[in-house]
Amino acid sequence: MKDRMELENVAFIGRTYEEYLSMFDLAEAVFFSGPVLDCPAGPSSFAAQACAKGFKAAACDVLYNLPSGELAAMGKRDLALIGQKLEETAHLFNWDYYGDKAGHMGHRTAALGRFLADFQEGAENGRYVYAELPRLPFADRSFRLVLSSHFLFLYGDILTPGFHAESLGEMARVSSGEVRIYPLQGLDARPYPHMDGVLEILRKSGVAAEIRPTPFEFFKGANKMLVLGRTGGPGGFPPAGRKSV
Ligand SMILES: C[S@@+](CC[C@H](N)C(=O)[O-])C[C@H]1O[C@@H](n2cnc3c(N)ncnc32)[C@H](O)[C@@H]1O
Repeated sequence: MKDRMELENVAFIGRTYEEYLSMFDLAEAVFFSGPVLDCPAGPSSFAAQACAKGFKAAACDVLYNLPSGELAAMGKRDLALIGQKLEETAHLFNWDYYGDKAGHMGHRTAALGRFLADFQEGAENGRYVYAELPRLPFADRSFRLVLSSHFLFLYGDILTPGFHAESLGEMARVSSGEVRIYPLQGLDARPYPHMDGVLEILRKSGVAAEIRPTPFEFFKGANKMLVLGRTGGPGGFPPAGRKSV
């Protein structure tokens, strides 16, 4: 058993629409209020499933300039890698949501399949956009909500606090409402150590930050998300349990 998940690179692993609703404690109805950006999305099926339900959603990632065959190969390779890493670090996780490792891998496999089925046509329609953080190729306030899962703080040992602050500021720039980020833990399941400094940089640039609970918890203790909005901007979205919009 290891006390951290050792990954040399950011994994090309994706989650489903249903996992996004849980992680970000969102009621589906909030998606009626405007377009949503998944950033970075990797092989997440969030955008594919949201668009199939009639919502407006886009996804961006630094690997979206690759052909779908290469993305499929990377996705399959990283599924196997994560399966092996979970064996070594199973004690770091709370298995309530997935049941067991097979249940977890079932979600990953389903997300990859839905993403790949949608990628080519979605890229042609502007749903999948190449983007390299800390810059985003979108106009100010293009999206009502920006969701960022399993990237920034999770990889706090290979991404600098400056990269985090710039990337979050950029996500806030392209959102007219909120930015939600999950998890706030690293690959050792410990809280990101430079959070206060990063939030101070954001506050100085007019971005309000709040840490809120989420009912989802996979890494033990990862039951909080970061919510960003503009200082003096529109009110936020309510938790999933309450009536929204
Ligand atoms: C673990 S995946 C996140 C998947 C998705 N958010 C989810 O939770 O299902 C992380 C993604 O970050 C992407 N990435 C890494 N560095 C990036 C950068 N500088 N700009 C944009 N995307 C980046 C990787 O290509 C990878 O697809």
